[in-house]
Amino acid sequence: MPIASFPATSLQPLIEERLVGVIREFEEELASPHPPVARLCRHVERYRGKMLRPTLAIVSGLAAGGAAAVGSRHERLGAVLELIHMATLVHDDILDEADVRRGGRTVNAEHGLDAAVLLGDYLISSAFHLCSRLGDPSLNEELGRVTGELCAGELLQQEARDRLDLPEGELVEILRLKTGVLIGAAARTGAREAGGSPTVVRAMEAFGSAIGIAFQMQDDVLDLLGTEADVGKSVGRDLAKGKLTLPLVLARELSGPQGRANLDDAVRAHDAMTVRRLVAATGALEAARDRAAAFVESARLQLRELEPSDAREVLEAMAAAVISRSR
Ligand code: FPP
Ligand code: MG
Repeated sequence: MPIASFPATSLQPLIEERLVGVIREFEEELASPHPPVARLCRHVERYRGKMLRPTLAIVSGLAAGGAAAVGSRHERLGAVLELIHMATLVHDDILDEADVRRGGRTVNAEHGLDAAVLLGDYLISSAFHLCSRLGDPSLNEELGRVTGELCAGELLQQEARDRLDLPEGELVEILRLKTGVLIGAAARTGAREAGGSPTVVRAMEAFGSAIGIAFQMQDDVLDLLGTEADVGKSVGRDLAKGKLTLPLVLARELSGPQGRANLDDAVRAHDAMTVRRLVAATGALEAARDRAAAFVESARLQLRELEPSDAREVLEAMAAAVISRSR
């Protein structure tokens, strides 16, 4: 969801200016006098894509407090959020044994496992170093909790591997933890930094969390259906690593006993082509897209707490883009 795809509003130059500031903060934080470290950090800068989390923090701030309330603190906050996100991607690609991200080689594929583990650690400590420079201990406390929840989501996902009868509710909780909480925190902290009222701040968190869940649902559909060239990252990793995803869980719900047994056999054999065919035959892909659309709708309802504004329109567009994207 590049910012360029948003509806042309008078806010676009301001959002872009703040994002340039986010990138500056990000690069300054990662600047290292040690050439091997600097080289690895440059690799991660290639991962930068949609900048969803910093953009959301900025736009939430604009919606909650107006342009005068969104300045250099939002730029630093945006860089902190992006650093946390980058750390999780570097570690996620290790866990998924993925070779490709954003159309290029992953850190683990290019520099090996040990360097990737350590770079993820470097990024997460850089995030909290930069966060502490905002001088607000409550932000450190909050983002520390959020990062812990994110790891808990990944641990629950590990624990649920190969549990083919995983209930939909448990799966959605994993998606909320691994993706929803950080996007929710981006929206909440962005609004709070801009002086938003407690009601608005709560609504923005609920908005971010819901679009985060929808984003992850779409991600899982793309992992099952997309090609590496289209999506720009390794696909089929969920199945290869025994991760249960919404299309699979719904396909099992929608199948009769024989269909479910066939699907389970194909999942256990990691037979991606058969899984794709069987899942599609049940209508589970449409059902997964419907579930994602329902989360987007619940996110949009939260926007009623905001005064009408261009920023609110941008948030509407961001919510819609989460499920219309193909990469
Ligand atoms: C993407 O999953 C992964 C996440 C949203 C969270 C990853 C978090 C960790 C690995 C915990 C490590 C945490 C720290 C703080 C370093 P995906 O594989 O479904 O998405 P993808 O398609 O983009 O790979
Ligand atoms: Mg992955």
